[in-house]
Amino acid sequence: MPKMFKLPDDSPPIIPVVVIKDAAKAPKLAEALLAGGIKTIEVTLRSKAALDAIKAITTSVPEIFLGAGTILTGNQLELASNAGAAFFVSPGSTDQLIQAAMQYDQPFLFGAGTASEAMKLREHGFLRLKFFPADGAGGIKTLKGLKGPLPDITFCPTGGINEKNAKNYLDLDNVFSIGGSWIAPTELIEAEAWNEITARAQAASILAASG
Ligand code: 3PG
Repeated sequence: MPKMFKLPDDSPPIIPVVVIKDAAKAPKLAEALLAGGIKTIEVTLRSKAALDAIKAITTSVPEIFLGAGTILTGNQLELASNAGAAFFVSPGSTDQLIQAAMQYDQPFLFGAGTASEAMKLREHGFLRLKFFPADGAGGIKTLKGLKGPLPDITFCPTGGINEKNAKNYLDLDNVFSIGGSWIAPTELIEAEAWNEITARAQAASILAASG
């Protein structure tokens, strides 16, 4: 059974979601984010380079709590675990994937966008979930609505989060973290715009720390 998802104590509740096309750029990206105070990253399995990028970051920047995202199948789960992922993220959940996840210790953030999806995951013992696609699934209104009937479930909303609405999500009682691609979008990674990525990471860390 996967452990409960928990950010490292010194990690701001912000998880950059990244698509890395060239694994050679991965360590520099992780360093740029770390320089901006970010300690947790989700590398999505949406590029051929993703598994090599996970290996490269776990080897060269071990301070990062590194997860593999966009896990859709048990096979991807196995590959991501072998590459060194410390946690897993999926946009949703299937019976097969839940069953496969039970073979691993690493925390798993399954995605839910409705009460029924969250309830099903709750039955399997998952109380920390990804809320996806946050904006499309009703955003802040939906999260507030889920709080009453499902008070023991907390969420990491992703999908449509940006520097403008991030704080509104973070301020919700049933949100333990937020995630998104706005801090390190693929264009900036491709352009090796490390200073800009550090600046965005810093802005996000400051935002999360502000009361
Ligand atoms: C995810 O996988 O969580 C999303 O693709 C991130 O969404 P965003 O690109 O809207 O931030």
